[in-house]
Amino acid sequence: MDFSFTEEQLMLQELAARIAREKIAPSAASHDAEASYPLDNIRLLGQNGLMGIEVPAEYGGAGMDPVATVLAISEIAAADAAHATIVSVNNSLFCTALTLHGSEQHKQGALRSVVEGRAIGAFALTEAHCGSDATAMRCRAEATGDGQWKISGAKSWITSGPVADWVILFAVTDPAAGSRGISAFLIDTTRAGFGRGKKEPKMGVRASATCEITFDGYLATAQDLIGAEGQGFKLAMSLLDGGRIGIAAQAVGIARAAYQASVAYAQERHAFGQAIGSFQLIQAKIADMKCKLEAATWLTLRAAWLKGQGKPFSTEAAVAKLTASEAAMWIAHQAVQIHGGMGYSQELPVERYFRDAKITEIYEGTSEIQRIVIARNETGLR
Ligand code: CAA
Ligand code: FAD
Repeated sequence: MDFSFTEEQLMLQELAARIAREKIAPSAASHDAEASYPLDNIRLLGQNGLMGIEVPAEYGGAGMDPVATVLAISEIAAADAAHATIVSVNNSLFCTALTLHGSEQHKQGALRSVVEGRAIGAFALTEAHCGSDATAMRCRAEATGDGQWKISGAKSWITSGPVADWVILFAVTDPAAGSRGISAFLIDTTRAGFGRGKKEPKMGVRASATCEITFDGYLATAQDLIGAEGQGFKLAMSLLDGGRIGIAAQAVGIARAAYQASVAYAQERHAFGQAIGSFQLIQAKIADMKCKLEAATWLTLRAAWLKGQGKPFSTEAAVAKLTASEAAMWIAHQAVQIHGGMGYSQELPVERYFRDAKITEIYEGTSEIQRIVIARNETGLR
């Protein structure tokens, strides 16, 4: 067993940390307050290889492994979780879908543009009436008989929806076939029939613009199909296995930022004539925060390592996402408490960590869904 990182992984981590420190952290509070999309920073991340970390160099990517992705996303999330949401969706869902299942045309076009930061990708599975129960989707792609698909319906809660240039869409191609009647399409948002709804006003990750997207007779061609017809649901599930590692990495980043702020505050804040960090009740919090942060970090890295080795990792990704998101929420909660009144103030980032942490327990499969995935895989029962 070897817990060390390669030189390349550490270099990518340092690059992400530098951009996070110099470009992302300074504007995180204003992007949060204004709910403004950080397009310039996303372009910069693309120019530095951080929007296509695992994409092969022939398509403009950094050609690195999932452990490198975890290290980079955690650094970005520690500075601002909203940036990490955008980065994770683009890397783990959008880029992986096209790298593994796209045609050469998809790879040289949409994939390359997103990897280089010239364009933004999105992933559209959820609908207003169904998020966890994803196979209940209604968005319909009807074969026109001349090799095209006419798409009608809507998808909700789409990260980067307001600005996306490309969308990976899951739609029903055969309503009688259940989960085997769902197919994936690459959508060009400049084509007729594509629309965007109003931006969702959110509790946290406010800069990662989220909205409904609509399809009104959008025409997709056979070349726009990703993978085989009817295989879209399996594709979504397998992509989400990887995406959940990205969200776990995001949770680790938020948790680390909240933990480090708490240690510093416990050392410098005084009450009753001593640093609050010398009170055993505060020390217990720090110790428990540290344990949860370490567990979340290493479970996430292990899931990423398994993925990079080409070994099964579905259960481990769900374990990592569940553990890391619940750790982030708990640690951010304790961080607010350790900061007292200042933890409740928008003058410090701690209250933002608390609001941002919550989403990691909801998207890419709620904590209840992670428990279902883990228990089903472990017991073989449904
Ligand atoms: N990999 C490959 N195939 C898989 C799979 C996986 N991990 N998990 C399931 N499948 C396959 C099954 O084998 C089955 O195939 P067959 O028909 O050939 O047997 C098919 O998919 C259907 O599987 P289930 O019967 O298990 O499906 P289900 O309806 O019971 O649902 C679920 C299972 C785990 C609850 C799933 O619906 C789920 O994960 N829901 C949560 C949805 C989710 O995570 N959404 C995230 C949206 S993206 C997002 O949120 C982005 C963001 O935040 C930023
Ligand atoms: P529901 O499925 O209605 O769940 C409501 C509650 O019931 C939850 O607590 C849930 O855990 C519980 N529940 C449901 N089924 C069960 C069960 N079988 N057993 C026990 N409990 C259950 N989606 C995309 O496709 N693309 C995106 O880019 C995207 N980005 C998002 C960004 C944000 C900020 C948010 C908030 C959401 C995003 N989503 C995205 C949607 C997200 O994935 C869903 O919100 C999530 O999967 C939960 O679905 P839901 O909101 O419909 O909740």
